[in-house]
Amino acid sequence: MAQKIVAGNWKMNHDLEQSLQLTEELNAKQLDEDVRVIIFPPALFVQPMSALKEGDFELGVQNFSQNTDGAYTGEISISQVESVGGTVGLIGHSERRAYHAESSELLKSKVDHAVANNFDFIFCCGEPLSVRESGGELAFVKKQLQESLFHLTANQIDGGVIAYEPVWAIGTGVTASVEQAEDMHKNIRSWLVEVYGTAVANNISILYGGSCKPSNAKELFSCPNVDGGLIGGASLKATDFSAIIQSY
Ligand code: PGA
Repeated sequence: MAQKIVAGNWKMNHDLEQSLQLTEELNAKQLDEDVRVIIFPPALFVQPMSALKEGDFELGVQNFSQNTDGAYTGEISISQVESVGGTVGLIGHSERRAYHAESSELLKSKVDHAVANNFDFIFCCGEPLSVRESGGELAFVKKQLQESLFHLTANQIDGGVIAYEPVWAIGTGVTASVEQAEDMHKNIRSWLVEVYGTAVANNISILYGGSCKPSNAKELFSCPNVDGGLIGGASLKATDFSAIIQSY
């Protein structure tokens, strides 16, 4: 069965003091044991947050290099992330695709590098507004998955995590309706079944992201193919984030 996951993507928000304060607030919360909770703070706060962390949540990075080490100015390697307590990374967030020109090919190499290093990742996909308006969202998302993820073997993808984040719903306050979310998630699951078979497909967590908040999380998480959420804005406050976790 797919693991339930609620992850918070802080993006480029919060300074050190705020990050540590939020860590303490999360330490004090009784988090649901059945839900895997992950925070993706700015990378430089993973170490101090890890040192302060007592609660049952993991820390991850919003991006990492597809290279092992060497002359890659500004990049962070998987082993560096692990050495400060990070256990998981995002791959292919739409903001990285759009503002840092991350191509399908690059994302594929990050997927391969993570798999080779036994490093957990959440693979992000999702269509922009123009594609949704022209009715091409299923083909668009399927292509993203085929180009960067579906080359993995069943063994390699088993237990993995995909986040569906329609670009038009990210940070806009516009959430995909329950029907829109479930429809895409159901399709992603069926493509996984086609490529990997039912057992592996049912073992992959498919998260929804895009203006998910305490007021709509319960409804979204009740969809049969939604296994949790990747939360941006609403993860910046411990009370909102833990309310979303409690929505399960
Ligand atoms: P949002 O961001 O919840 O602020 O819409 C989601 C994300 O980009 O992961």
